Amino acid sequence: MRQSSLPDLGIGLIGTGFMGRAHALAFQNARTTFDLPVNLKLHALADADAARAEHCARAWGFDHSHADWQQLISDPAVNLVAITTPNHLHCPMAMAALEAGKAVYCEKPLAVSLDQARAMHSAAVKAGVVTRVGYNYQHNPIIGLARNMIESGELGQIISFQGEFSEDFMGDPQSPWSWRCEQAHAGGALADLGSHLLAMARYLLGDIESVCADSQTVHAQRPAEGGSPQQRKIAVDDQTYALLRFANGARGTFGSSWLKHGYKNHLSFEIGGTRGTLSFDQERLNELRLYRAGAPGRDGFQQILAGPAQPGYAAFCPAPGHQLGYNELKTLEVRALIQALCGQTSEGPDFAEALEVERLATAIRVAAKEMRWVTVSEV
Ligand SMILES: NC(=O)c1ccc[n+]([C@@H]2O[C@H](COP(=O)([O-])OP(=O)(O)OC[C@H]3O[C@@H](n4cnc5c(N)ncnc54)[C@H](O)[C@@H]3O)[C@@H](O)[C@H]2O)c1
Repeated sequence: MRQSSLPDLGIGLIGTGFMGRAHALAFQNARTTFDLPVNLKLHALADADAARAEHCARAWGFDHSHADWQQLISDPAVNLVAITTPNHLHCPMAMAALEAGKAVYCEKPLAVSLDQARAMHSAAVKAGVVTRVGYNYQHNPIIGLARNMIESGELGQIISFQGEFSEDFMGDPQSPWSWRCEQAHAGGALADLGSHLLAMARYLLGDIESVCADSQTVHAQRPAEGGSPQQRKIAVDDQTYALLRFANGARGTFGSSWLKHGYKNHLSFEIGGTRGTLSFDQERLNELRLYRAGAPGRDGFQQILAGPAQPGYAAFCPAPGHQLGYNELKTLEVRALIQALCGQTSEGPDFAEALEVERLATAIRVAAKEMRWVTVSEV
């Protein structure tokens, strides 16, 4: 077998759940899909469940497994630490990795409090290493096209943003408690889904200056486990809605719910400009809908399909309309991370950007609690 002459980049991945598998797939796919300037070496995998760590390490092609994540971080062969554990563990794991001088690829939301997010950002600045956060949806090539359309003025002046991220995985009141239902471990629908939408709104339209919001816990208790008669109290939001004022003058709405039946990955937005409207729904992630004003007799939305004209798409498939999927967005995210590590780009989203997303989420929480408009720079 041909040996790679490229320098190794040792990957240490923590967590083997939904996102642990997605990261492992993305690292493997990135090696096949792109000509990377480094050899991605799947060096170590950690999970609190030792047997699962060992099993997944073998199945996913990692050389070592650990039950103790600190051993993974202190391994000198690990250059990049990928964190895919429940939200409250992001801070201690990232801080330890930064302290050890490792690059960090952390899942969203960055942290469970603004203080944690601030500390993580400061530690990243001090360490001077690359950080990236898993707002994978913005790596969609067709979202790149949307951003270009907005920035080039194709839609005219942007005046409105209606954004929603709804799913229904907690829609059944009998859906059991999980770490996602714990304020100290997670932060509810706003943290879980809303963080993605806030990152997307900022990616497309820039800073949001002020918010006013409402938040609700609809199901105040849930079974402790599936089918269990024992109930656990729930304090996090099931749904949060907000009004947004963007720095560019646009007005907007925000919604995040994990109760909205029928929706599985409804990260969606409609952006209104003085010359047109653009709409997107992650459940149809290979399509944009564009309405151009001023074409009498040709009224109607145009459907734009994803294809190789959009940077990133052709690496997976040379033919338009053949469609990318969720895991391909994660692979594109890994490519962007590697480019950053090799000094080829400084584009985020890094811990500095994730801190701004957390500031915005905190402003929404404060606005909902105090029932008033909140200037984001207040928090
Ligand atoms: N970017 C996205 O689209 C996306 C999607 C889903 C989840 N997430 C984020 O990914 C993170 C994980 O979510 P998930 O759905 O994969 O959760 P999960 O519950 O499926 O997996 C969590 C994993 O962390 C492991 N773990 C827990 N404590 C640990 C410890 N002390 N040491 C080592 N491992 C430990 C668990 O054993 C499990 O393997 C969360 O922050 C979540 O918000 C992001």
